[in-house]
Amino acid sequence: MRRKIIAGNWKLNKSFAEARQFLEIMQRELANPEYKNLGTFAGPELVIFPQAPLLTLAKDFSCGGRLGFGSQNSYWEEKGAFTGELSLSLVKELSGKWALAGHSERRQFFGETSDTAVKRALFADRQGLRPMLCIGETLAEREAGQTEKVLKEQLAPLFKAEKAGLPSLAIAYEPVWAIGTGLTATTGQVEAVHSFLRLEVANHWGGDNAECLPVLYGGSVKVENSKELLTCPNVDGLLIGGASLEAKAFLTIAANSLQ
Ligand code: PGA
Repeated sequence: MRRKIIAGNWKLNKSFAEARQFLEIMQRELANPEYKNLGTFAGPELVIFPQAPLLTLAKDFSCGGRLGFGSQNSYWEEKGAFTGELSLSLVKELSGKWALAGHSERRQFFGETSDTAVKRALFADRQGLRPMLCIGETLAEREAGQTEKVLKEQLAPLFKAEKAGLPSLAIAYEPVWAIGTGLTATTGQVEAVHSFLRLEVANHWGGDNAECLPVLYGGSVKVENSKELLTCPNVDGLLIGGASLEAKAFLTIAANSLQ
């Protein structure tokens, strides 16, 4: 049984005051009997990806370790002349557990390639963090019937660099056309892609590694559609943007994984 992961990608949102408010609600609500299993081994793992300066607050409000956190983007070297990058040694020092890599907004707006995304993910693993590698096709690619080809290409540098598997890895499948658009992929579309991804991983790393790999879905996840998405056998969690900004919505989605 793969443990579900419910992750919130805050992107370029929240002031210190807003982040503190969110975290105070989390702290209060996780003590509520209704949410007693969230962030424990009896329930889903909870993770937030705030902007880097907010990571210190996330550390202060880790809710007894029940609310994990990580970086939205990070570099593949620990230190040096790399202005504007984020070192994972700082994330680790704060007890962050996760490092997001290759989000489609990084690919679309900041020149991220599949090669650099994988370099970030692999370095996170080397640093003892868990990489969450984001992949996904655009609408034009889906309409041209190229979804599987694109996903294969996005994963190719990973399989090239890593021959035996990467137990720390999670993959987030986020179709670009579903991010922030209100268009969610149907459960049929999601399940088809997730089982394809698991097969692809099995082909390269063997069935055992494929069975253990968490594959999350992201793209316009809301309270309303979360339950159905989480019933797909190959959906091991959700990466949530907009709806993760509100603590109550984030908690409700997480509670929907307990079914
Ligand atoms: P969204 O974002 O839930 O706002 O569509 C998801 C993501 O980009 O991770």
